[in-house]
Amino acid sequence: MEIINRKQRMASIARKLRRESKTVGFVPTMGALHEGHLTLVKEARQMSDIVIVSIFVNPTQFGPGEDFERYPRDLTADAAMLAEYEVDYVFAPDTDEIYIPGFSTYVYVEGLTETLEGASRPGHFRGVATVVTILLNTVRPDLAFFGSKDAQQVGVVKRLTRDLGFETEIVVVPTVREESGLAMSSRNAYLNEDERQKASILYQALREAKLAFKNGERNASAIAQIVEDKIATEPLARIDYVAVVSNDDLEPIDKIADSEVLVAVAVRFGKVRLIDNVILNRKQ
Ligand code: PAJ
Repeated sequence: MEIINRKQRMASIARKLRRESKTVGFVPTMGALHEGHLTLVKEARQMSDIVIVSIFVNPTQFGPGEDFERYPRDLTADAAMLAEYEVDYVFAPDTDEIYIPGFSTYVYVEGLTETLEGASRPGHFRGVATVVTILLNTVRPDLAFFGSKDAQQVGVVKRLTRDLGFETEIVVVPTVREESGLAMSSRNAYLNEDERQKASILYQALREAKLAFKNGERNASAIAQIVEDKIATEPLARIDYVAVVSNDDLEPIDKIADSEVLVAVAVRFGKVRLIDNVILNRKQ
């Protein structure tokens, strides 16, 4: 496994791999790797000849007062894990390698980015879309792997690859959870043991929504209410939003029909903000 810091070198290796007709699978991350990330890597390993993982804590996707400075960083531990998973290249650039001096071009995906996470974290998806564009343009992978834990991010990335004509296929990997049901996240490291236990309320609430749907509930606001009521039973939890929206365009819906519906939540536990979701009517 080779660790690459320079964008030019990453691009030139990727060019060579393309000439050799290797299938390249790419997993973009911000490091602090956990089982969720590693499942993406495993999937990439199975589907590609060459696996490239990027580790870059992207400053432009953090808002003022968010956790950019204290975001967990441990390249040595991350690289050791990735070597075990038979990754071929780790792309770990410095900030000024991605945001070169005088940088002034941003990618803004309209509509889709203005609700849910986008409404709570203004500018977040502009940062995500910009860095993903730069990374995809550097690596030009055949496949890029994203977790459905960040469902809105998946929507944004699919839209931008389509609109900008990237040939990369986006592969979506289901959310990996702890035994308690808590979705794995680098930010779980900020929770103390008590909060971590109680944070499983997010998934419990989402499962109740799934159950109600299975039992015939088709009213979106009734589903949202079930989730809110369940989370409200946990005094440490403060709801940021509970949304029941179309999984295609993230527009609110009234009645649930046959298309995929995203039930998404964002909840604060003290200073820590957690997100989770389930999809109803999932198409295989
Ligand atoms: P990061 O939060 O490090 O996540 C990297 C990838 O791992 C994302 O596609 C995310 O959805 C996926 N992931 C995280 N937790 C997961 C879990 N429990 N189960 C399955 N997949 C999980 O998302 C980002 O970084 C950044 O926004 C990035 C795309 C790298 C752009 O900076």
